[in-house]
Amino acid sequence: MEWVENNYLYQSDEITESLNYLSNSFQFMNIEFFISQIEEKQYKIGIIGLGYVGLPLMWTFHQKGMPVIGYDIDSQKTENLKKGIPYIKHLGKDMMQVLAGSDRCDATTDFSRLTEADAILMCVPTPLDHHREPDMSYVEQTTRTIGKHLREGQLVILESTTYPGTTQELIIPLLEELSGLTSGKGFYVAYSPEREDPGNADFNTAGIPKVVGAHGEDALKLAQALYDTAIVETVPVSNTKTAEAVKLTENIFRSVNIALVNELKVVYESMGIDVHEVLDAADTKPFGFMKFTPGPGLGGHCIPIDPFYLTWKAREFEKHTRFIELAGEINTTMPIYVIDRTIQALNVHKKAMNGAKVLVIGLAYKPDVDDMRESPTFKLFDLLKGYGAEVSYYDSYIPVVLPTREHEEWIGTQSVTWNRETISSFDAVIISTNHSDIDYGQLAEWSDCIIDTRNAMKGIEPKAGGHIFKA
Ligand SMILES: NC(=O)c1ccc[n+]([C@@H]2O[C@H](COP(=O)([O-])OP(=O)(O)OC[C@H]3O[C@@H](n4cnc5c(N)ncnc54)[C@H](O)[C@@H]3O)[C@@H](O)[C@H]2O)c1
Repeated sequence: MEWVENNYLYQSDEITESLNYLSNSFQFMNIEFFISQIEEKQYKIGIIGLGYVGLPLMWTFHQKGMPVIGYDIDSQKTENLKKGIPYIKHLGKDMMQVLAGSDRCDATTDFSRLTEADAILMCVPTPLDHHREPDMSYVEQTTRTIGKHLREGQLVILESTTYPGTTQELIIPLLEELSGLTSGKGFYVAYSPEREDPGNADFNTAGIPKVVGAHGEDALKLAQALYDTAIVETVPVSNTKTAEAVKLTENIFRSVNIALVNELKVVYESMGIDVHEVLDAADTKPFGFMKFTPGPGLGGHCIPIDPFYLTWKAREFEKHTRFIELAGEINTTMPIYVIDRTIQALNVHKKAMNGAKVLVIGLAYKPDVDDMRESPTFKLFDLLKGYGAEVSYYDSYIPVVLPTREHEEWIGTQSVTWNRETISSFDAVIISTNHSDIDYGQLAEWSDCIIDTRNAMKGIEPKAGGHIFKA
């Protein structure tokens, strides 16, 4: 079909194209259009980084009926997701099979498909580099990729933990430079920290209120509408750097309090007082006290790392973060205390650490997960080896030490088997992580020298002639 108007000949497909362009421009100007798309579950959510944070986030949106697409540079993850093969143990098989069988879910390593998503949520790692300074390479690389494919109207949200100022100073300028668009006019940007607690049966992504800070009112409105579809509560704050600071504050709070109870543990132990009994009793106070639990040190992707993002940024403002530094110092020296206690324990059994066969239970940094990042168990391995001990570990969640950026010398080490013959062959057993699938009563029957850093042996008596040492 064709029309002649003002001496121009218009083809119908040209008209359609122009109308689409006008309609898209109008839609972009109209934030309500996107919100209606969200409400109608026509708004596709792209998640970059399908790890401990990205995968449950994808699941949460999918469960609420939203179309989702996951992106990762790791093709093994995208392939497993498409085939329904679990790769994060505590998330289970059922979830993976539902996602794999859904026509609302897709996964890819092809980043040119970023244009398919209406919102792009970044969940990539933010570790520390070898100088213990923020390693922003993953965030920067991902932002560059998004920038190259950014289309008008897309909402970009950073979920990775980072220093205050990242979104404003790094993300927005890069996206604008690479796309030629302007934040708040051509696309929307927000920051929303992830508060996921892997393995915590009491809370999942959907049930944890989500803090959101955005660049401009429209971006905030849109990001809030998006999270409102899937998360119990959205907590807006005035800008992205405030939201970034919220996450760091939460993790600094944990790091400092864990350091405090770790310090109390050492002090009370020297006085013959059981720190766990003290903390349990103190926890009966209905106000003004919050219980934290001591352990062999700090592990995981967050608590040992995130506080130092603030330390680094604070230097720019000539400010010092003394609490953070002190907490870091106390927490990182805890494995040395555990090894001292192990030497004392072996001594009671008239054995030396040099040449002793020592088993460490739990390689994961916390119970009932398969995440060994920053696990203090690795520090125990190194110290034990340094003293000439023969080191082994048991962890049903981590049957073999897989390649990581660190701990190269332990890669390929396999968990021992849980049976009387094997466990009783060790001179000492250190409980580093208290997984709930371990029969601690059985351990007391099989081992006569147990060093317990987690109060896992509470209420269990040692075997005749045996000892359970707290550490
Ligand atoms: N794990 C937690 O408990 C937790 C909790 C709250 C916040 N966080 C924060 O969330 C962020 C992600 O942590 P995580 O534990 O999910 O990490 P993870 O290592 O489990 O997952 C990150 C994923 O990102 C992928 N990736 C890396 N670079 C990429 C790139 N350039 N493009 C696409 N994908 C890329 C990796 O292959 C991996 O699958 C971090 O900032 C972390 O501090 C983690």
